[in-house]
Amino acid sequence: MNAALNKTMLNYSSAEMLDIVKEKIKYNENSSYYQTNDMLEWYSEWDFKQYNPNIYSHGFHQYPAKFIPQLARKLLRVFTDNNSVVLDIFSGSGTTLIESFLLNRKKSIGIELNPFAVFMADVKTKPINPIELRQSFSEIKNFYNSANYDLNNLDTFYNINFWFKEETIIELSILKKCITQIEQIDIQNFFLLILSDVIRKVSLTKHSGFKLHRDKLKLSPSFKPNVFFEFEKLFNKNILLMEEFYIESKNNKTEILLIHGDSRKKQNIDENSIDFILTSPPYGDSKTTVAYGQFSRLSWQWIKNDSNIYSLDNDLLGGKNNVNFNNEILEFSATLKDQLEIIKNIDSLRAKDVLSFYIDLYETLKNAYFYLKHDKYFVLVTGNRTVKNVFLRTDTIISELAHIIGFKVEKVLFRNIINKRMPDKNCPTNIKGQYSNTMLQENIIFLRKN
Ligand SMILES: C[S@@+](CC[C@H](N)C(=O)[O-])C[C@H]1O[C@@H](n2cnc3c(N)ncnc32)[C@H](O)[C@@H]1O
Repeated sequence: MNAALNKTMLNYSSAEMLDIVKEKIKYNENSSYYQTNDMLEWYSEWDFKQYNPNIYSHGFHQYPAKFIPQLARKLLRVFTDNNSVVLDIFSGSGTTLIESFLLNRKKSIGIELNPFAVFMADVKTKPINPIELRQSFSEIKNFYNSANYDLNNLDTFYNINFWFKEETIIELSILKKCITQIEQIDIQNFFLLILSDVIRKVSLTKHSGFKLHRDKLKLSPSFKPNVFFEFEKLFNKNILLMEEFYIESKNNKTEILLIHGDSRKKQNIDENSIDFILTSPPYGDSKTTVAYGQFSRLSWQWIKNDSNIYSLDNDLLGGKNNVNFNNEILEFSATLKDQLEIIKNIDSLRAKDVLSFYIDLYETLKNAYFYLKHDKYFVLVTGNRTVKNVFLRTDTIISELAHIIGFKVEKVLFRNIINKRMPDKNCPTNIKGQYSNTMLQENIIFLRKN
């Protein structure tokens, strides 16, 4: 082993973690995951800047703050084997589940409160024979071309005319009707997920962020989206991804369990039953960070006609700020206590938003501890953010809370984030033109249950 490698390893890992990395990682991985020239990269690569995240079913649909699959794969390679039961307590669009499936792990469980994300993860973890999908596409196309649609029977939901032009509503209603004529539910869902992406493209929304804003430029008559053209384009993209996914995983036996539920509450998972937890919690409450509910709203209303999605952002971590400042977690995390005090002196309501997020997060960490087997690892990928000019050290706060719960904090690594559709600046002072950087790095926190 050369001296440079030795130095890098010391920088990256405590002795114990390093042993696991050395033992478990083989570098004959598929080149979508690693283009390794030497062992040095295996240990030091956490940014995965030069890798394509949209491989296999990962590329079916966008979702805010998705894991880079290469990162999930590396961690799953290190901490699991074919007999492992894996859990993601904020499973989002399903990256951990897909990677567990591709690696043929025994079982992979996801907990997620956003019903649209649960739907997405379900589609993305089901390999379907591409020949059948191509046949179904031809059927949908034939239905669409010969559709004789009752214009009094269009899809509708609250404010639909604010977000879509009249002609687009007609075309989307016809297309949805054609898709739902496909009898096999998994195939139907594959196409409904494509429809969701079409919905985003042809709506009057701006595509620059995850919040819903109307793009006034799209009100002009020159914005004439062609629904079926977009659908065909996205089908052509996803079918190629499905071909690769199908070949890679069709014989895999991983049991996938998606729980549509709240990670703050104990779910139906046995104590000491999980071999590895890999997750990425939200960075903060939905109102001021990523609005998962707003991101999902139009798609979910179209494809499932479910308007409960309206309240989702208030139901996610930190969504309700009816907390008080003598909560016990302020005794458990000195960092949170100090940082919150500063924010409270500037804006006590904002301080309540921050506190409620960490109180909720603490509940989820306790549940994770309950599910995990002794001596096993819980890895969290998370970001720090700035609120009212205070750089909130979520990595340290999680480490302090985890220690109280009974985890050993093995290591905290940093990785640079790239390609995120997150605002990388915010205006904490609310003075126009004054910005500060936020979320330029993520942390990878390695906890072990004592
Ligand atoms: C950073 S995203 C996870 C993304 C995921 N790693 C992926 O690759 O798609 C965080 C997720 O936590 C979910 N979430 C927030 N609060 C939750 C709660 N109380 N219970 C379960 N899921 C929650 C959000 O809906 C969001 O999908």
